[in-house]
Amino acid sequence: GIPSLYEAYSGYFPIGAAIEPFQTSGLKANLLKKHVNWLVAENAMKPVSLQPTEGIFNWTQADQLVEFAKANNIEVRFHTLVWHSQVGDWFFKDNEGKPMVDETDEAKREVNKKLLLERLDTHVRTIVSRYKGDIKSWDVVNEVIEPADPGGMRASEWYKVTGTEFIETSFRVAREAGGPDIKLYINDYGTDDVAKRDRLYELVKEMLDKGVPIDGVGHQTHINMNWPPVSSIIESMEMFAGLGLDNLVTELDMSLYVWNDHNDYGEEIPEQILQKQADRYRELFEAFKAHKDIISGVVFWGIADDHTWLSTFPITRTEAPFLFDKQLHAKPAFWAVVDPATRQ
Ligand code: G3I
Repeated sequence: GIPSLYEAYSGYFPIGAAIEPFQTSGLKANLLKKHVNWLVAENAMKPVSLQPTEGIFNWTQADQLVEFAKANNIEVRFHTLVWHSQVGDWFFKDNEGKPMVDETDEAKREVNKKLLLERLDTHVRTIVSRYKGDIKSWDVVNEVIEPADPGGMRASEWYKVTGTEFIETSFRVAREAGGPDIKLYINDYGTDDVAKRDRLYELVKEMLDKGVPIDGVGHQTHINMNWPPVSSIIESMEMFAGLGLDNLVTELDMSLYVWNDHNDYGEEIPEQILQKQADRYRELFEAFKAHKDIISGVVFWGIADDHTWLSTFPITRTEAPFLFDKQLHAKPAFWAVVDPATRQ
């Protein structure tokens, strides 16, 4: 048989996968149990999943993941308390049901801001209180940086109504509700990009100076075969480590294609492409291992090529971003990150 991925990395860092609750049975469950010691909800713990309507919390799917993980000695990490996407519209409606962002009256804008921060407090406090005993590692805010937007901050409804206060409130309330033992992360994609990385660095530093309890940076790491250079991923982690912060790889996958080209390999992915992917995965994991002192976990945004958000984004084409293929068999990329000599 093949060796366990997480056991192969036991001297380095945990290995995780993001999944949907329906993947916790059958062959997929066996694959997960064998190869990962961390799990993340691909969608089940997002704001709209947990609180679709104000005051109505829906725990069923999230609990299912937590129970599966517990039964199999797997740790869950949380994704995500706050995001501009997959969040109920009700958060951003004023007392009269109008979008808060449309308000021009200064006094009413203040009222709206207070209301939104109260709703945020309740959301964060309720969820953290429920899972603090089961979940140690938390994505608190997701994707708040956007270098193209004014001030380099994503012009989300959160930001338009509260400025950066929603970030501060999220971390403070999470710490208050969860205590000193939970680890709180700010998560984003493209953290190797210089403009984005530098804006994130500046924000995090400003927050830390104010005493906002941020423990680390989550680097999503949605990469492709050519981009970005592994060195730029590591350089970014080193910068944040310099602030005393932890780093996690939170959403790793490797597209076979360049962003929006219309090439499609179809179901039969050429052997040389799979080999190229393996070589890039080897380079990446060698770098992660060499920097294990500043990386405390590596999570894939999926587990096998039969299920990936990439296959329809940004266009529909055959993607194969993981170490396991659609039949759940180990690919060349698996053997590039696990020593073939350990095959039993
Ligand atoms: O649940 C509904 C279903 O009821 C409906 O019939 C169906 C029709 O479209 O949609 C289903 O919801 C979809 C949901 O995934 C669950 O499958 C949404 O349309 C779809 O937009 C959503 O996509 C997710 C995406 O986040 C949303 O932005 C992906 O699965 C998920 O992998 C992706 O994850 C994000 C991370 O949270 C943050 N970083 C980037 C990453 C990849 O985009």
